[in-house]
Amino acid sequence: MLALNDVWFRYGRRSEWVLRGADLRIPPRGMVALVGPSGSGKSTVLGLLAGYLRPVRGTVHSAKDEKVGWIFQMSTMLGSRTTLDNIAVSLLAHGISRREARAAAEGLAERYGLTDVSQHRARTLSGGELQRLAVARAEATRSPVLFCDEPTAQLDASNSELVAGSLKTLAEAGTVVVVATHDRCVEEAADAVFRLSNGVFR
Ligand SMILES: Nc1ncnc2c1ncn2[C@@H]1O[C@H](COP(=O)(O)OP(=O)(O)O)[C@@H](O)[C@H]1O
Ligand SMILES: [Mg+2]
Repeated sequence: MLALNDVWFRYGRRSEWVLRGADLRIPPRGMVALVGPSGSGKSTVLGLLAGYLRPVRGTVHSAKDEKVGWIFQMSTMLGSRTTLDNIAVSLLAHGISRREARAAAEGLAERYGLTDVSQHRARTLSGGELQRLAVARAEATRSPVLFCDEPTAQLDASNSELVAGSLKTLAEAGTVVVVATHDRCVEEAADAVFRLSNGVFR
């Protein structure tokens, strides 16, 4: 269970409070959007939920490190390897055979709309394709929790919609997806939306 209970947070004794008694309960399934203007503390909240930031006051129920996946504005891949390879490496890490990994990677590529570029090197993919590949890889990795920090910030509207849809697909497959965003189309795809302003959720 991911939650903040009356959390106060600032980056240093002389800094302004970023969170001022924030309460947040992330539902145990589905896709959640954390929205708020730039500087409102969305990335800070992800850091607290992931457990790499500690509150000054209040309590946080954070995720265990090994269970967490991340997607940032621009995902990093093995650039000289193909789309399929980038998905398959995560599957091979679970100890399944090459053949099974390949078949499963093809299934995931299809699910996330990457079949046409499955043999392309990752460094040749568009921003939207890379982000969808990151979502496919997260499913392959089977992280029960995926934190996404502005995953559509560098994308145009149509790619943003594809990525938002992919995140929803992943959430439906059982991953808890927590997205910090100020993108309306991500917000609309979410099962729940929490708005952050003046250091609290409302
Ligand atoms: N590492 C840091 N050190 C000091 N201040 C920071 C740091 N990271 C963020 N801040 C400040 O904390 C506030 C919230 O930042 P952030 O969580 O990144 O907001 P958002 O993700 O909503 O844009 C901002 O005022 C920002 O300048
Ligand atoms: Mg941020």
